[in-house]
Amino acid sequence: CGEGPHLPVTCMTETELYTLYKGVYVPSSLHPPESLRYYEEFTFRPDDILIVTYPKSGTTWMQEILPLIISGGDPASVETLHNWDRVPWLEENRALTLNLEKRPSPRMFTTHFHYSMMPPSFFEVKPKVIYIMRNPKDVFTSAFHYFGSTSFLVKPGPQSEFLQKFLDGEVIFGSWFDHVKGWLNAKDKGSIMYISYEELLKNLKDSVTRIAQFMEKSLDTEVIEKIAERCLFKNMKKNSMSNYSAVPKEFMDQSKSEFLRKGIAGDWKNQLTEAEAEYFDAVYKDKMKDVKYKFVWD
Ligand code: A3P
Repeated sequence: CGEGPHLPVTCMTETELYTLYKGVYVPSSLHPPESLRYYEEFTFRPDDILIVTYPKSGTTWMQEILPLIISGGDPASVETLHNWDRVPWLEENRALTLNLEKRPSPRMFTTHFHYSMMPPSFFEVKPKVIYIMRNPKDVFTSAFHYFGSTSFLVKPGPQSEFLQKFLDGEVIFGSWFDHVKGWLNAKDKGSIMYISYEELLKNLKDSVTRIAQFMEKSLDTEVIEKIAERCLFKNMKKNSMSNYSAVPKEFMDQSKSEFLRKGIAGDWKNQLTEAEAEYFDAVYKDKMKDVKYKFVWD
């Protein structure tokens, strides 16, 4: 990669691009200290709704589904607001500009943070949480392509190296294993709905129905069908408010890998070698040995 202060973006390392916050890396450009402070001091309302994910697990998908459920199927917000303004990340710098305190209830937010990183108000107020999980081998695969397309994330480098970093949690938002275990072990599980990417994929209508029930929102079958149709991969891909096409190429180069890339389960089979998949499984087995939760991919 060479040396000197003007290294090409492809050479930039964790130290240059990330901030270590509470033991996990976050991209510095999106998480300046004032954003992290804002997050720590954030005051929740009991009727707030929080989408929580480890990156690449279906965040953007839920940022489409949830507002449609809350609006009773009215597409206005998903047609006019970018996903990052519609259901903003609380920890990102954008949140500082959105006047979230003035938003009417129910407010919808997103976070990639671990359970142990939640601010005090979260534990006092116990807002509703939708926690989405995805087969970590597919999370890895999606991340591998995504990291390669952005300039604010460290380039994945050779696949075997990125695999080791991913398994060690040396990537943004830390370890997938810690993230999932932390949220699965959360207290107050009554206010958390656990759902997987794979369930959404298998039966979107049923998933929308379950999420609406959790939100105590009664919707006609016809509305549920309309929401599910709108949130199909092929349709969401066309929504310029959700497909990240508004992000300048210098930050996210979708000619390298589209944000809405494949939208399938099991793409890891096309990505990992047999040996890498076996190694992944062995690490998974060890790190998840105490987890009782039955994952759909197991
Ligand atoms: P792939 O890269 O495997 O295609 P996140 O929003 O958490 O970053 O997750 C991005 C992943 O979710 C990408 O996975 C993306 O294609 C997928 N995704 C987004 N919307 C989807 C949809 N409507 N149906 C299926 N997958 C979707």
